[in-house]
Amino acid sequence: MPDTVSDRRPCFITTPIYYVNDRPHIGHAYTSLAADVLARWRRLEGRDVFFLTGTDEHGQKVEKAAKDAGMDPQAFTDQVSQHFRDLAVTMGFSNDGFIRTTEERHKRTCAALWEKLVANGEIYLGHYEGWYAVRDEAFYGPDELTERDGVRYAPSGAPVEWVREPSYFFRLSKWLPELLRRFDLPEGDPHRIDIQPESRRNEVRAFVQNGLKEFGQTPEKLDLSISRTSFTWGVKVPGDPAHVMYVWMDALTNYITAAGYPHDPEAFARWWPAEIHFVGKDIVRFHTIYWPAFLLAAGLAPAKRVFAHGWWTNEGQKISKSLGNVIDPVALVAEFGLDPIRYFLLREVPFGQDGDFSRAALIGRNNGELANALGNLANRTLSLIQRNCDAKLPGPAARAASDAALGALVDALPGQVGAHLDRQEFHLALEAVMAAAREANGYITVEAPWALKKTDPARMEAVLRQLHDALRVFATVLQPFMPTTMAKLLDQLGVPEAARGLGALGTPLPGGLPLPPPAPLFAKIEAAG
Ligand code: MSP
Repeated sequence: MPDTVSDRRPCFITTPIYYVNDRPHIGHAYTSLAADVLARWRRLEGRDVFFLTGTDEHGQKVEKAAKDAGMDPQAFTDQVSQHFRDLAVTMGFSNDGFIRTTEERHKRTCAALWEKLVANGEIYLGHYEGWYAVRDEAFYGPDELTERDGVRYAPSGAPVEWVREPSYFFRLSKWLPELLRRFDLPEGDPHRIDIQPESRRNEVRAFVQNGLKEFGQTPEKLDLSISRTSFTWGVKVPGDPAHVMYVWMDALTNYITAAGYPHDPEAFARWWPAEIHFVGKDIVRFHTIYWPAFLLAAGLAPAKRVFAHGWWTNEGQKISKSLGNVIDPVALVAEFGLDPIRYFLLREVPFGQDGDFSRAALIGRNNGELANALGNLANRTLSLIQRNCDAKLPGPAARAASDAALGALVDALPGQVGAHLDRQEFHLALEAVMAAAREANGYITVEAPWALKKTDPARMEAVLRQLHDALRVFATVLQPFMPTTMAKLLDQLGVPEAARGLGALGTPLPGGLPLPPPAPLFAKIEAAG
């Protein structure tokens, strides 16, 4: 058994908070799904989990979207934020909290953080001029821009405009060397800022190093403009209400608002620092440079890990609204069912890399791995127990030599899955379960328990018990990925609700346990459609 079973350490897991200028799409579902699976796994380990998601509701972009919709920004955000709550229900997310940046508690935390930074001498008033992209809510250096037909564009493709306004600045320059030091601390060091995957860590490190080299003589050029006077839809700067806070400062602060800073010191001490911020690769710099710098400057610890995942394409094409190929998670779930989608998204592509969404791949995984390898194994085993063992679980039996290979794989599986999930290797965790399921399918074919009823009923029972034990482990470790279907499988296996954690795997189920008649777990999907 993994030795983490009675580990009750608190564990805070976050998703980005999503912009409300858009409807939820596959990207939102994907980031939150990964966080959900890790949160559910930690709970199975017995950990105390706080899994947070929410919506990012301020800034010029949202103000514009509300205006385009002919709505007041608050009414607009109330409406769109609800789509993200609905998505969490559709996708089966187990979030413990949902934060909106327009909530009063959040505005209070933003003000408290700001005041702390002022008190620490980390903020000064100046004025900003430069190239600003509304769409990205970000500034760009002149050398980063390209020009077409008199319009300048950021590397993201967003048009930029020249902006000049009074602005408060955060002394980012001062913190960059400390960030670099923390990026490079060895694994296990409590001060390490762990950026994953490795390729992203190198990218962020190089970005900071170049900045320092380039602006070595004029460090204030690296300071960050953190307020705006050109629009009003934001959190007001304490003591200077003509300014609203830069939307990323407001947005990043959501994590500590929800954790209890500063209004609930006990909760904050419990949940902070976060175990992990899940983000997409496009927002990794905000989470690994600005955010830890704000926190360090306020005397707070940065999150332990930031994991940046890759982006999906749709049948080989970049996903974009203009191409009209945005993938709607609600439609996907309606067509294929929730658990096959949850499985596919984390199985198909190594987490951290870009990947392609294709119907053929989805159908292939569903039919080959879920319906065949796992579903049929469960159905064959449980049907044989129904028919040949009077619907009662055979008692535990000593392993014969021919049971050893499967037994060893099954015993090692929870630890293996746990080690992969500790590193956010979701696809490898699933591959490990599938490898064991393939072994179990080979075992059932070779042992042919259906042929043993007359010749060696004791061996038949022993073989079916081995298979039942294997299925129990598969179902237990797969719960975070496919909660609904694995609950059904555990019901069919006769595993009581209280015995579905990892810690319970050490206790065998009693022989003679009555088992309900099995029913298919996964449907095959026809390729045409
Ligand atoms: N509001 C900011 C985050 C603030 S966090 C303090 C934001 N919001 S967002 O709505 O744009 O978030 C989008 C999330 O979805 C990001 O993690 C992004 O990487 C992800 N994706 C958007 N398109 C995607 C794909 N095509 N594929 C995978 N994920 C993608 O950024």
